[in-house]
Amino acid sequence: MRHLIDTTDISVAEVDQILETALDIIANRQKYSEVLKGKKLATLFYEPSTRTRLSFTSAMMELGGNVLGFSDAASSSVSKGETVADTVRVIGCFADIIAMRHSKEGAPLVASHYSEVPIINAGDGSHAHPTQTLTDLLTIRREKGRLNNLTIGFCGDLKFGRTVHSLIKALSRYEGINVVLIAPEELRLPSYIRREVCDKNNVPTREVTTMEEVMPELDILYMTRVQKERFLDEEEFERLKDSFILNPERLKAAKEDMIILHPLPRVNEITRDVDNDPRAAYFRQVENGKFVRMALIYNLLKWSSERSESKITPRLRGELVRNDWRCSNRQCISNMEDVDKLFHEAADGYRCAYCEAKVKNNK
Ligand code: CP
Repeated sequence: MRHLIDTTDISVAEVDQILETALDIIANRQKYSEVLKGKKLATLFYEPSTRTRLSFTSAMMELGGNVLGFSDAASSSVSKGETVADTVRVIGCFADIIAMRHSKEGAPLVASHYSEVPIINAGDGSHAHPTQTLTDLLTIRREKGRLNNLTIGFCGDLKFGRTVHSLIKALSRYEGINVVLIAPEELRLPSYIRREVCDKNNVPTREVTTMEEVMPELDILYMTRVQKERFLDEEEFERLKDSFILNPERLKAAKEDMIILHPLPRVNEITRDVDNDPRAAYFRQVENGKFVRMALIYNLLKWSSERSESKITPRLRGELVRNDWRCSNRQCISNMEDVDKLFHEAADGYRCAYCEAKVKNNK
């Protein structure tokens, strides 16, 4: 069984295969219009979404399949206390593949341990958003013609921004990537991602506090929203929410062929008058999300039916250890539901397998 829980659950070759399929779908829409006839996608969205849920829905419909699910956990038996594990075992009786978004980090990984059908992580808390990453990669490929030799600036909320975490992981597997992190002190990229991903893969990475000092060297500016829903302190959110605002004046220093990406929704961080700049690629990026999700559903179902040992999601190949340690992250699914406590060894000790938080007081 194949699942997509984290960006690195699929190899670079498989990412390329998904992107090639997406490009073929764009060029030959009719060819794919009935390839998943009779198949059903379940969209289990425990957290709000516009783009991800509706693009999954549209993607499955354009492949000739059907869609069921919920867009609000309150309207499902989750509101009666049903666990993620039980929910996916039930939904697997009705659907061939599941896309799940959850506010608790690691919930899709828990789902993948119990599901009889492929699970796609459609965003879990501040942790990961691998299908947004595929969307971003397809957009970069179409806009820049390559996925290597690029300088990309990530700007805004790099602490809670799950799209940033996933895209950095994905890009670190390509040659010639330079990462610039533009964030206030309070919203810096979690240090373990910098250490375990950027440093480990020899990706030159630097942190700055203003857009202006790096704008002329960027090939891609990846803007992000300050994630209000993740803050425990409202005053801190109010203080940080407008840390970076991209406007036409700031763009004057940018390369003519730089592209501006944003996973959306946008709030204040890009002014409306940037939208007509040809470098603003964020609405083209949204449409790519549908094509890449079509390609993902199509390939994931194909890979899952092949039943080859080498096709098992690599992260689940037994590198995890069980222990009674408690994850320190209050937003982790392991602190909400009765799940096996699983950890993996990292350079700085053990980390929770569900959310990657460091385990305190471990040996
Ligand atoms: N980019 C993204 O995940 O958007 P939604 O929250 O609207 O799905």
